[in-house]
Amino acid sequence: MMGPATDTPTVHGKLHMAELSTPWSRAMGLGAPILNAPMGGVAGGRLASAVSEAGGLGMIGVGSAGSVELLEREVTHPQVAGLPFGIGLLDWALAREPQLLDAAIAASPVLISVSFGDTWRWAERVREAGIVTAAQVSCVESARAAADAGIDVLVARGAEGGGHGEPAVGTLPLLEGILETTSIPVLAAGGISTSRGLAAVLAAGASGAWLGTAFAACSESLASDATRSALIGAKDTDTVMTRVFDIALEYPWPIKYPERILRNEFWERWQGQEEQLSADPEALSEFKASRARGNLGTTHVDAGQGVGRITQVRTASDVVSRLCAGAVELLGSWASNANWAKRS
Ligand SMILES: Cc1cc2nc3c(=O)[nH]c(=O)nc-3n(C[C@H](O)[C@H](O)[C@H](O)COP(=O)(O)O)c2cc1C
Repeated sequence: MMGPATDTPTVHGKLHMAELSTPWSRAMGLGAPILNAPMGGVAGGRLASAVSEAGGLGMIGVGSAGSVELLEREVTHPQVAGLPFGIGLLDWALAREPQLLDAAIAASPVLISVSFGDTWRWAERVREAGIVTAAQVSCVESARAAADAGIDVLVARGAEGGGHGEPAVGTLPLLEGILETTSIPVLAAGGISTSRGLAAVLAAGASGAWLGTAFAACSESLASDATRSALIGAKDTDTVMTRVFDIALEYPWPIKYPERILRNEFWERWQGQEEQLSADPEALSEFKASRARGNLGTTHVDAGQGVGRITQVRTASDVVSRLCAGAVELLGSWASNANWAKRS
């Protein structure tokens, strides 16, 4: 029986990545079928460049507090390095600030995702610009609607995932349901942070994996050192779904998309009392002041359930090569397993 392949891969390198490639990752020109999720405030140009440099596709997140200025600043990193990159926008933020789409298209990424909504009008302009379109979906019905609207690649985003998302279905059943329903490429997201998770979704038929939390903990992310420490110290049972921080920060997130975070003091105090919080100006201004001081009791850390398997701050290159080396080893051992070979 082989040991865990996540922390001590026997071999690193591009050979493994090539072995894991899928028709979609090859068509995209990627060495590895791995993308970092576009995480607002966390996945900037430096992380995106590092992931692309390592053979995956680096994504830049323009999240709840995103702006055209931020987008234009962050894209310069991969642009100057001559590396491919993607940009991830939010449906509700785009409705509020349509110039985000102009700026994203003008930056010439290879892929644009617009997530957490069910309007697909943006997709036509993106496709016309020769850019691949992607959207995160959380159930088979929205996957079907996105596919009908001509989205090029779907991201099956399971309930285990970090950050915002509809906690409807877990990653594996969602991936299975979407693969059975559509014929377009599907990436798997939510709770994947090790080579075992990567191997599982690729074996199930995913065209690649879209990982958030695992890359948030990387040295190149925009996360603070305190956030990185919180991520590597957390257990898989430490996450909760909540709207408390959207209310405290007055973000207009649709109700169906709560956020998976590491539980903290502020959540303990206000969960279940969201209405009282929104009507309490004193609590809101105390929250903002405490957050400005960087207090992790009030500053929330987005994380998926895969957080428990993240034990060290690593470079994105190290994460990509370890994921690939371990997945190749696991899939190879499964294929050559003596009992399996006897049965077949
Ligand atoms: C810190 C953080 C910030 C996120 N911000 C965004 C965002 O701005 N836009 C987006 O489409 N998804 C965002 N997400 C969700 C990811 O796209 C993805 O669904 C999720 O990270 C997958 O689960 P995992 O974190 O368990 O890998 C965020 C996730 C995290 C962890």
